[in-house]
Formats: sequence, structure tokens, C-alpha cells
Amino acid sequence: MADKPTRQRPQCDLRSAADFILSGGIGGVPTETVYGLAADATNGEAVKKIFAAKGRPFIDPLIVHVCSFEMAESVARFSDKAKRLAEKFWPGPLTMVLPRKEIIGDIVTAGMDTVAVRMPSHPIMRRLIELSGRPIAAPSANPFGYVSPTRAEHVREQLGEKIDFVLDGGECSCGVESTIIGMVSVPPKLLRPGPICAQDLESALGEEIDKSPKKNEAHPQAPGMMKTHYSPKSRLALFDSPSEIPQSFGGQIIFFKRPDLPLKNHYWLSESGDVREAARNLFVLLRALDKISKGALFYCQRVPNIGIGIAVNDRLSRAETKLDK
Ligand code: TXA
Ligand code: MG
Repeated sequence: MADKPTRQRPQCDLRSAADFILSGGIGGVPTETVYGLAADATNGEAVKKIFAAKGRPFIDPLIVHVCSFEMAESVARFSDKAKRLAEKFWPGPLTMVLPRKEIIGDIVTAGMDTVAVRMPSHPIMRRLIELSGRPIAAPSANPFGYVSPTRAEHVREQLGEKIDFVLDGGECSCGVESTIIGMVSVPPKLLRPGPICAQDLESALGEEIDKSPKKNEAHPQAPGMMKTHYSPKSRLALFDSPSEIPQSFGGQIIFFKRPDLPLKNHYWLSESGDVREAARNLFVLLRALDKISKGALFYCQRVPNIGIGIAVNDRLSRAETKLDK
């Protein structure tokens, strides 16, 4: 068993991280979408520590990460359709909600008889799952209600003192959380837009999916059910056209594309106007401007509603300051 650390760990090697997982510890791990906060999904006490570190309510279920289809079948039951999606999109940023098997306890699924499963493609995360030999439960590694981390330093800054290790896998290549599809209903439901868009899922399935599921079901079916999810601490307003910003506004502004003549208070999600680049930079910029703005209002431009841009706009509208807050 690995030593119990007394303070935050800046770096960790894979073997020690696997030892922490096997001995019931929790830690920050890189994936291609965002950093996760990992624990052995079969160890209820370890999973409880995730909820405590994040300040996350137990009604919000976790995603279970696997490194092989064999492991996936040990945690959930796959229909032929689900197998087809797994073949096409795994490893990668797709999470499927499926009927769960007994190995996964109530704490992971918030008592539901379904489990969210995903096979990530990030080599470090895959190796960690292989080395520990366990399915790994991992929500995004941020305090509950804050934007997801896309760099190891984000995890260290916000959770470093509360967790056993952080594995640094560089910047996340997608930058927004995985697409979630509910496979227990007919037709399947898109529960959270992400890097894999609805059209790609539909062409793999050969059928239309439900792209606007009802919001008020008994359990939160996706993170968006909670209104304050992803909120920065400063106030954020969104715009489509710069003409919507009052002339007198002197605060920080994030544009989709680099302006021709940027001013000192201007930032941009993409140099050239590429939605994938915008997704990669989204949470880094929201975090940075949240700090710089020190509680004051800042603006961010919506991106074109195509491909991963749909997920970017979804996260932006959740981060936007609501008038009833
Ligand atoms: O990209 C990702 O999915 C990242 C990385 C770390 O894998 N993880 C992530 O986890 O975004 P989290 O916990 O922040 O968001 C997962 C959401 C939960 O908020 C929950 O609403 C939904 O997945 N979920 C989990 N289990 C579910 C289930 N059985 N049925 C419906 N929704 C579920
Ligand atoms: Mg999250």
C-alpha cells in the first residue's frame, strides 16, 4: 500500500497512482475531455471520498471508466445498438447510460438501475485503469458547480489538498466533457451534447435519437439539470454580435475569433474561428477571466452551433449568470 500523503502532491507516477486507487484513495487524472477525480468504482468508501472532495450531492451519479470491452461488460449490459456505438466511438469521448450490473453499487449510480460507462482514449487514463485492474468512477475534477478542469494545475489549485495524487497528462485535447447518450429508452436520448455530435450518433445507429429530453425527471439525468452547473464566480453575460455590448463597457470580453484589432481587454477562443479550438480553450479562458474580473461582469461570444460548437454553447449557457441567482 502506498504512503498516505499529508499535503497535496504535485506529481505522481502511474504505479503509485494505481496503488492509491487499489487502497481506496482518490486522485486527479487526465482524459481527452477534461480531468477526472478518480476512485475504484467497486469500492463504496473510496467513491464516497469523491463526493466529499467535490462537495457533490449524492443524487448526482458518476461515470464509470473502463479500458476494455470485457471490463465494460462487467459493469453494464450492452444491447446490440450499444455495442455498435462502442465499436464506432470507443475509446473516445462518448458515455453510454446502460442497465447496470451488481459490481457497481448504489453510491455510484445514485440508486438508479442504470450506469454511465465510457472508455476514454487518453493513454495515461487507460494505463491507470489497466494497472489497477478496476473500473474507475470519475466525475470532472472540480468543486461542485464550478467549470471543469482541462489542465493538471486546475486540479491542484482547487482540490490539491483534498486528494491523494494528481497525474499530469498535459492539456485535454477536446476541452469539454463527453457526449452522454441514454441507451435505456427508445429512441436513445442525448443527455449531454459533447465532442461527438448527435448526427454522428444517428448515422452510426441508423435511426434518429431524442435530442431534447424532458428536464424534470426524478433523478438528474445529466449535469445540466442543475442550474448552477459550470458557473464562474464573476458575472458572465453572453452575446452573439458585439453590438449587443454597451459602448460604455470597460471590462473583459471573450470573442469566438481573434478580432482584427484586439484591445487590451479582448480575448478569443480561437485564432482562426475553429469550433474545436474554441472548445479546447473554453474552460481555460473562463477560469482566467473569472479571476481577472474579480466578481465583475465579463462577456463571452457564442460560437457557431455546429459540431462540438453545440457543446460549447451548452456549457456557456449554463455558465451564464442567471437573473434569479
Ligand atoms: O468527459 C467526461 O464525461 C468527464 C471525464 C472525467 O470522463 N466526466 C464528467 O463527469 O463529466 P461528471 O460527473 O462531471 O458528469 C457526468 C454526468 C453526471 O452529472 C450525471 O448527470 C450523468 O453524467 N450521469 C451519470 N450516471 C448517470 C445515469 N445512470 N443516468 C443518467 N445520467 C447519468
Ligand atoms: Mg462535472
